[in-house]
Amino acid sequence: MIRSFLLPVLLAFTTMAEAGKEVNVYSHRHYPVDRMLFEQFTEQTGISVNVVKASADQLIKRLEVEGDQSPADVLITVDAGRLFRAQSKGLLQPVESQRLKTQVPEHLRDPAHHWYGLTIRARAIAYAKDRVKPEQLSTYEALTEPQWTGKVLIRSAQNIYNQSLMASMIVAHGHQKAAIWAEGMVRNFARTPKGNDRDQVKAIANGVGDVAIVNSYYMGKLLNSEDEAERTAAAAVDLFFPNQDGRGTHINISGAGVTASSTNLENAIALLEFLSGRQAQQAFAKANFEYPVNPEVEDSPLKKMWGDFKSDNINLSLLGKHNFEAVTIFAKSGWR
Ligand code: FE2
Repeated sequence: MIRSFLLPVLLAFTTMAEAGKEVNVYSHRHYPVDRMLFEQFTEQTGISVNVVKASADQLIKRLEVEGDQSPADVLITVDAGRLFRAQSKGLLQPVESQRLKTQVPEHLRDPAHHWYGLTIRARAIAYAKDRVKPEQLSTYEALTEPQWTGKVLIRSAQNIYNQSLMASMIVAHGHQKAAIWAEGMVRNFARTPKGNDRDQVKAIANGVGDVAIVNSYYMGKLLNSEDEAERTAAAAVDLFFPNQDGRGTHINISGAGVTASSTNLENAIALLEFLSGRQAQQAFAKANFEYPVNPEVEDSPLKKMWGDFKSDNINLSLLGKHNFEAVTIFAKSGWR
């Protein structure tokens, strides 16, 4: 069943491989800016980029089924937890280059070189401008205080962004305190978790709750949306970066690794170098409101809007290491 669904992709890639220089990408990212960047990469290098888009879980499953025969050279995901999972299953191979080392800071890449961060997203607190003063906000931990009872919005625990946030709580406080935090959050929920990050912002605007934990780039996207209702919702909220006096705001990455089956290393590495290079990093920031990983690229529309912030700079491989534990805590706390 799965094989018949995979075969056409395999054939398409094989035919193109014979045609010349190329690189095959499995990507969970689905943003128009990626297509534009792949085209620019082809213009500059003569290497064409073939992309299969699906969720990271589907792509990981596909890589497992295809094994050595996989046509994919590069796997791109929208969080470190899934890259760690692919690595744990032996689906990625270590690659190194001087450019990758300087373009991607150490905490944003796998210590054993299986994957590299390409963009940063902060998981920050959105709050109702008319009902909450920023002075009332401080940390993720403080959202469990009684003043927030019935006012906290956040998406489901099934979501990897929340699993990685919980993993960072485990790293900071240990299992037991992280579990107590989860219970405190559940107690303060405005509603049973549902919807995506955008929906939490809309729910604040509609008065369902007062604060929400959301990824930073969604605020940029909502404020610049073609949909007037989204722009109106975003205008009713502001963004707060928690834990500034302590470990910093939890961040995650969208990132990439070279597949274990790839023999096309030169082109695969060239693509990773390009995507973490100045031109691509500026485009990610400008078009998709993500923060650059490359320390040489300062320019970021989100930083212009909300200023710089201190991020929790634990090595992001820890988010994957504690993923299972995070899922267990969520299940026990009743955070669905
Ligand atoms: Fe997202």
